[in-house]
Amino acid sequence: MPSMLTDVFRAHPISLSHQTHDLTSLRQLPDSFTWTHEDDLLFSAASNDQNTLPVIDLSDHAAAAAIGRACMSWGAFQVTNHGVPLSLLDDIESLTVSLFRLPAHRKMRAARPVDGVSGYGVARIASFFHKQMWSEGFTVTGSARDHFRKLWPLHHLKYCDVIKEYEEHMQKLATKLMWLVLSSLGVTEADIKWAGPNSDFNGAQAAIQLNHYPVCPEPDRAMGLAAHTDSTLLTVLYQNITAGLQVFKDGVGWLTVSPIPGSLVVNIGDLLHILSNGRLPSVLHRVRVNKNRSRFSVAYLWGPQSDVQISPIWKLVSPVEPPLYRPVTWKEYLRTKATHFNNALSVIRAHQQE
Ligand code: OGA
Ligand code: NI
Repeated sequence: MPSMLTDVFRAHPISLSHQTHDLTSLRQLPDSFTWTHEDDLLFSAASNDQNTLPVIDLSDHAAAAAIGRACMSWGAFQVTNHGVPLSLLDDIESLTVSLFRLPAHRKMRAARPVDGVSGYGVARIASFFHKQMWSEGFTVTGSARDHFRKLWPLHHLKYCDVIKEYEEHMQKLATKLMWLVLSSLGVTEADIKWAGPNSDFNGAQAAIQLNHYPVCPEPDRAMGLAAHTDSTLLTVLYQNITAGLQVFKDGVGWLTVSPIPGSLVVNIGDLLHILSNGRLPSVLHRVRVNKNRSRFSVAYLWGPQSDVQISPIWKLVSPVEPPLYRPVTWKEYLRTKATHFNNALSVIRAHQQE
């Protein structure tokens, strides 16, 4: 991945006040990890609604239309037959499990530096909450080699290869999904000049976020990852078979995304919401934890080149539908998010322009 990404993500909040704990050694939920409505207004139980996130077979000729509908009403969907080899999903899961199962002192050798982005640590959004989340993460931007060498002195090359291969597949899949989503809005390749001469979003940037949600003694009072939207164009998530991811649907509330072996979860991020002039929701999501099973996930956070101006696509703007947002680069947006978190989109609203 291009090294400029490090600059882009550096704008993200880096938590200094939250130490990583060895959560697996805790037999009781400490107060600092106990969440209530006071800590997050959205701390409500999941709905029993029968509504489920659409599952779309990417090899089906009707996939494009189904993606369009899912993005409009949910801002997310699951995909099967996505073309990413199942053996590669197994490999990235093994890497993730192996990484988080290392002893705490070994993981700390690859801790995210205070002024850095890559490495081991708490969730990047931790600084916005008073309570701590029941999770640990590892972010890969650019080369993973230096960090991986510290984690696995003897096996790091094998794991570097897995990351590289995963990235290549994800980049292709994200590009394909992006065009499917855009075409559902009537947007063509000619409308997005910054996708490059081959319309392959060459130079698009990304990060891989590995997440671990250990078993938790009191899951009903804990939070794996608090409610947020992603600052991406779109995110492709691999989750192991332990449920935990929930998406928020207006009028319904929180719904759990049932893991389907071999499938991937796709969600719209804030930048695609902006491009779509607000038509596609960047879905609010969070992760709840589990008493008996640990959960692992791998998020591919995909965005544009850091200095491209992202603004509502002209075709989706008219006198009756004026642009909702002013132009913003990914770099600037991440900086805004780092300050305003879940209010960042309202800061970019056009009427707030001076
Ligand atoms: C993320 C995220 C969900 C999960 O990393 O941004 O939302 O299931 N992860 O871990
Ligand atoms: Ni997310």
